[in-house]
Amino acid sequence: MIDSISKIAVLTSGGDSPGMNAAIRSLVRSAKFNHLEVLGIHKGFQGLIDSSFIDLDMRSVSNILGKGGTFLRSARSMDFFDSKYRAIAFDHLQKNNIDALVVIGGNGSLTGASIFSSEFNVPVIGIPASIDNDIYGTDYSIGYDTALETIVESVDKIRDTANSHNRLFFIEVMGRKSGNLALNASLASGACFVILPEKDFQLVELIDRLEENKKSNKQSSIVIVAEGNNYGPSYKIAQDLSAVYSAYESKVTILGHVQRGGTPTSFDRILASQLGMAAIESLQLKNYNTMVGLVNNSVENTPLSEVINATNDLSESLYKLNKIISS
Ligand code: F6P
Repeated sequence: MIDSISKIAVLTSGGDSPGMNAAIRSLVRSAKFNHLEVLGIHKGFQGLIDSSFIDLDMRSVSNILGKGGTFLRSARSMDFFDSKYRAIAFDHLQKNNIDALVVIGGNGSLTGASIFSSEFNVPVIGIPASIDNDIYGTDYSIGYDTALETIVESVDKIRDTANSHNRLFFIEVMGRKSGNLALNASLASGACFVILPEKDFQLVELIDRLEENKKSNKQSSIVIVAEGNNYGPSYKIAQDLSAVYSAYESKVTILGHVQRGGTPTSFDRILASQLGMAAIESLQLKNYNTMVGLVNNSVENTPLSEVINATNDLSESLYKLNKIISS
């Protein structure tokens, strides 16, 4: 491992999330403040394999703070799973005199970063960015807050039309195997039911809830479905329900990639800015092979080896709250 860091590279990898640009901007400016050189890598780990670098200076990150996506672009590199390509990637780091790598991304990207750092003894810092909010070692990942706002805004709109027609809407949200996005979307949008990967779901529970609602004269019902739930896709749930229960006309909306785009909220911009600077400070303190995250409102480092072997679990207290107040 090297003694001091003078040149670093940064990449964004996996599913993009709003606020990644704000993290790059903060990282570059904090690096410059500390007299470090920064290279950007295009298209994540694939760009490292393909040697696709650009110089980043103070001005190259102007006017990106409020933009969704990632101006460095991203990819889910299949090649990087192969040690032969990881060796090529390491060679490109060496040829460009890069002392350390900062990886902005979700669980898959941080796992790639951790493997790479142990294989080649490269100092790596991870910055958690994913709309799923499933990364261990941070209360919030960059992009989650914006995605939640996007979902809630969409559900509010759907509720207007659901009310007008006395309909039942199944709204499917992203989150992979985590229900964090779905549970919080349910709470914030006042859905009457939520189907989560972490909790077993049976059709009869939903029918009971809908029956109760009918008795109390509820005009419309919104059910949030997490894409990773164990029962199946929202279309299957709607179809199975209609086969046994016909009190409401069912409609399905899959929000899809609209959840990944859009201008980042102030929360995500500030979080990303904090974590960008924390990544540089971590390199200076030789806090290598860690991820920077926000834990109980303070910026902390967690070893990548811990981050990639755990998940940010569903909050049982929010789950209980949602059960009690949703109807
Ligand atoms: O991890 C972020 C995420 O948006 C998940 O919620 C979703 O399951 C997945 O990425 C979709 O990935 P892709 O854009 O590659 O289809």
